[in-house]
Amino acid sequence: MAHDARIFVAGHRGLVGSAIWRELQRQGFTNLIGKSRGELDLVDGGAVKTFYAAEKPDYVVVAAAKVGGIHANNTQPVAFLRDNLLIELNLIHGAWEAGVKKLLFLGSSCIYPRLAPQPLKEEYLLTGPLEPTNEWYAVAKIAGIKLCEAYRRQHGCNFISAMPTNLYGPNDNYDLNNSHVLPALIRKFHEAKIASAPSVTCWGSGSPERDFLYSDDLAEACVFLLEHYDGEPFINIGYGRGLTIRELAETARRIVGFPGDIIWDTSKPDGTPKKLMDSSRIFALGWRPRTDLETGVRLAYGDFQRRFGGI
Ligand SMILES: NC(=O)c1ccc[n+]([C@@H]2O[C@H](COP(=O)([O-])OP(=O)(O)OC[C@H]3O[C@@H](n4cnc5c(N)ncnc54)[C@H](OP(=O)(O)O)[C@@H]3O)[C@@H](O)[C@H]2O)c1
Repeated sequence: MAHDARIFVAGHRGLVGSAIWRELQRQGFTNLIGKSRGELDLVDGGAVKTFYAAEKPDYVVVAAAKVGGIHANNTQPVAFLRDNLLIELNLIHGAWEAGVKKLLFLGSSCIYPRLAPQPLKEEYLLTGPLEPTNEWYAVAKIAGIKLCEAYRRQHGCNFISAMPTNLYGPNDNYDLNNSHVLPALIRKFHEAKIASAPSVTCWGSGSPERDFLYSDDLAEACVFLLEHYDGEPFINIGYGRGLTIRELAETARRIVGFPGDIIWDTSKPDGTPKKLMDSSRIFALGWRPRTDLETGVRLAYGDFQRRFGGI
C-alpha cells in the first residue's frame, strides 16, 4: 500500500478499529478516513453510497459492527442480525461499486460451530450447529465472509476476511453489563481496591480456557494481511496459546494491585470449557504476536486508569 493511499477504517473509534488506526499511523499511512456513527450511519445504504462516491477510498477495513454479550444477543436478535448484515452489505457492495482496491472484513471466533474440535481451524466453518446464545451475530458474520467470497468470484474483487480471537486493549468497553471478561475483571479489581473490599467474586470456576490477543498485535496482523495476503480463505488471528480464566484473573488482580481474595462463584455458568484459535495459517505467512499477557494487561490497565481512574 502506498503511504498516501486513502484508507477507510469503519469503526475507527472501537477497540479494534482504533488499534488499526494507530497501527496505520505508526507505519506512516497519512491518508486515513474515519467517520463517527453521527457522521455516517453504516446501516444507511444511501449514506454509505454517497460516502463512497465522495471519499473514493482505495482500501477499506470493516471493523464496525453491532457487538455485545449474551444478554444483548438474546434481547435484540433483530439488531444483531439486521444491523450487521446491513453494515456488511453496504460496505462490501459499496466497495465493489466504488472500485476499492482491497477490503478487509473482520469477523470473530463465534462463527465456528459450538462443538467444533479445538483448536479452531478455518476449515471447521459450517460443519455443525452454532452456539445458540450468539447465533444472530454469528450468522451475520458468516454472511460477511461469504459476501467477500462472492464478490471475489463474481466480480474479481480483492476482498479478504480475518477472524480474531478474544481481544483486549485500549478503548475497550468497561460497562459491566456487556463488557468482555478482561475489562470486567480490571474494573472489578480496581473498584474493590479503591473500596478496600476483602474479596472480589468472579463468575464460574475459572477453569475455561481462552486465547487472548492484545489489540495492537491484532492491528499489526490486519495491516500485515492488507499488505501480504490476497487469498479467498479467511484467516484466524490469535495469540496461539490457551490461558485459563483463573490465570487471567490472577494476572489482572496482581497488576491492578488488589490485595484481597478472588471467590469463584461456581453456581454461575462457565460457558464453553475451551475455545482456542489455530493461528498456524497466519504464523506460516510470517506474522507473530509480540505482546505477552503481563505487558498487555499493564497497558490495558493504564488505559483504564487514564479514562476512568476516578470510578
Ligand atoms: N473485541 C473483541 O474481543 C473481538 C474479538 C473478535 C472479533 N472482534 C470483531 O472486531 C470488530 C470490532 O469489534 P470491537 O470490539 O472493536 O467493537 P467496538 O469496540 O464496539 O467497536 C465497534 C465500532 O463500530 C461502530 N459502529 C457500530 N454500528 C455502527 C453504525 N451503524 N454506523 C457506524 N458505526 C457503527 C461503533 O461506533 P459507536 O462507538 O458509535 O457505537 C464502534 O466504533 C467486530 O466485527 C467484532 O466481531 C472483536
